[in-house]
Amino acid sequence: MASATQDEKIAPTAHYTAYVWHRLGFPNASLFVTPLGRAMFWGFRFAGEGLLTWAPFAPSMTQYLEYRHRAFESVVEDTRPDVVVELGAGLSRRGVTWASRGVRYVEVDLPHMVRAKQAILAERSDRALRESIRGRLEHVSLDILGDGFAEELGALLEGAERPVVMTEGVLTYFTPENRRRLARSVATALAGRGAFVGEMRVKHAGATGQALGVLRGSIRLVTGGRGAGADEPSHEVARQAFLDAGFASVEAVEPSRWPHLARFPLPARVWVSRGLSATAG
Ligand SMILES: C[S@@+](CC[C@H](N)C(=O)[O-])C[C@H]1O[C@@H](n2cnc3c(N)ncnc32)[C@H](O)[C@@H]1O
Repeated sequence: MASATQDEKIAPTAHYTAYVWHRLGFPNASLFVTPLGRAMFWGFRFAGEGLLTWAPFAPSMTQYLEYRHRAFESVVEDTRPDVVVELGAGLSRRGVTWASRGVRYVEVDLPHMVRAKQAILAERSDRALRESIRGRLEHVSLDILGDGFAEELGALLEGAERPVVMTEGVLTYFTPENRRRLARSVATALAGRGAFVGEMRVKHAGATGQALGVLRGSIRLVTGGRGAGADEPSHEVARQAFLDAGFASVEAVEPSRWPHLARFPLPARVWVSRGLSATAG
């Protein structure tokens, strides 16, 4: 187990989502279950998700996070990358999973999170898992909003032919300006190769807005108010942000890909951006 101090330093929502991935049965997710994640999940279930018994038309946090995680995962499955770089990886179980399947996987985060993740892995992984990821899973401390990030990412991607750069549950915490700044850095570093995957949350009006109001309340509860601000005005504006960053094609991974998730309105789309626009650079 990581020490209590290390656990406290990790963004609390990373604990929560790690526990949701465990509940959903994703491979290797149980490795990243923490006491804080379990307590947050069950505390929230009792305190907040009861709301959903009178709003069955609204997606639950678990359903929203399931769409998000499956959508990101589907891009790795479909693209078969030679390297994945996950930005703000938190307690993601994806690095261990794909590294153990032979893919070079780089998890980027702030120093405290990288240390905590390494400690969890050192303490909880068995010898078979450690051998299966040896030399393929890397942890790198970088500020993804820093001035030198495009260059730093470019160095991580050197020699890659089909890289996937992804950032799950991160863009929504940033200001709209910083989302665009990060997208520009990634477009520059990819230089037309592979794909960039990230989700953008949007404002909704009318009945959809009401249904999503319940989920937004849930997000505020889970994130202590940090995760529900500055949404994009529409999916089209969100898509345009990736095009403006320099990508040539931007497509959503639609929730309808998973029939059990298709009946709910969802506040975000996971976008896959590829290529380099003629005007970029
Ligand atoms: C809400 S957590 C999401 C973690 C994980 N991707 C998930 O879906 O649960 C946001 C993550 O981004 C990291 N992060 C925030 N700002 C960052 C920055 N400027 N550079 C690198 N990582 C950052 C945090 O440390 C944290 O691990």
